[in-house]
Amino acid sequence: MIVTTKELFKHAYGKYAIGAYNINNLEQTMGLFEGNVSSKAPFIVQLSRGARSYTHKRMLEAMMKTADEIFPDAVFAIHLDHGDEATCMDCIESGIYSSVMIDASAEAYEKNVEITKRVVEAAHARGIVVEAELGQLKGVEEDVVAAEHVYTKPEEAYDFVKATGCDSLACAIGTSHGAFKFKGEQKLRFDILEKIQELLPGFPLVMHGSSSVPQDEVARINAAGGALKGASGVDATQFLEAATLGVTKINIDTDGRLVWCRVHREFFRDHPEKFDLRDPGKVFMPEYAKFIANKNVLLGSAGQLDSVREYILASEKA
Ligand code: G3H
Ligand code: 13P
Ligand code: ZN
Repeated sequence: MIVTTKELFKHAYGKYAIGAYNINNLEQTMGLFEGNVSSKAPFIVQLSRGARSYTHKRMLEAMMKTADEIFPDAVFAIHLDHGDEATCMDCIESGIYSSVMIDASAEAYEKNVEITKRVVEAAHARGIVVEAELGQLKGVEEDVVAAEHVYTKPEEAYDFVKATGCDSLACAIGTSHGAFKFKGEQKLRFDILEKIQELLPGFPLVMHGSSSVPQDEVARINAAGGALKGASGVDATQFLEAATLGVTKINIDTDGRLVWCRVHREFFRDHPEKFDLRDPGKVFMPEYAKFIANKNVLLGSAGQLDSVREYILASEKA
């Protein structure tokens, strides 16, 4: 069942967070749906601009439609990750996406408001919800590179939400994209979330850059020929604390890439005579499903599926 994030966030608010997972291909899609259905979790499929151009955007959309048919128990939103205005408009027109992110966070405040407002207007006219972003994550966000964190300012967040009418807000609190998030101890600014929650009670917040970069995964990759030095990520035991502060969506991409990398490196190290792409794929799909199911336990979304489905159906009737 394809849904918007509106009801998902209402159901989760203050209690748990929904996993938002990036996918790029068929094997990830199969593992993603298996893992969420087996752990009974609602979820968000994220398609980035990079994912849309990797093969063809319509191919990904067709896979989502088919996944909805072959996994009738799945409850999920289809979301554009880090969109620019043109891509948001294309996704709004596609008839497949139930949610888009407009990321104009690299623009000056007024310009960010202006662009976000246009996307909100177009999306809401089609019943699609919008995530926007204020503040900047250190490192790379799609094609923009920020040398330092630009933390979200709570008062500005309040004004921004009121001015744009966006449905959720990605906040910069010290995380970053990719496998190299922290040198030494991690520092997440939960005090910023607390202040935003005070100003915007009940409003859904989003945490990007939330992969944990498990050290055992990194060690296995390096033992199989990889060279990931100094990789580190977010402590997953903090997900539930973030959820109590209004974070309803937690974005995870890098950790899934690490699973892919580990499975394929180990597979070809251990089976140098093999060359059928389906052989490592058969190992990857259940491994990815297991990875998703484990994440959902940490997010608190595991086991929520029946309750969330009833909640959505009841609110549709009301
Ligand atoms: O935020 C970035 C996501 O991890 C997507 O990455 O643009 O390389 O697909 P990508
Ligand atoms: P990671 O790189 O930490 O997985 O973050 C993904 C993300 O924020 C996608 O928007
Ligand atoms: Zn992101």
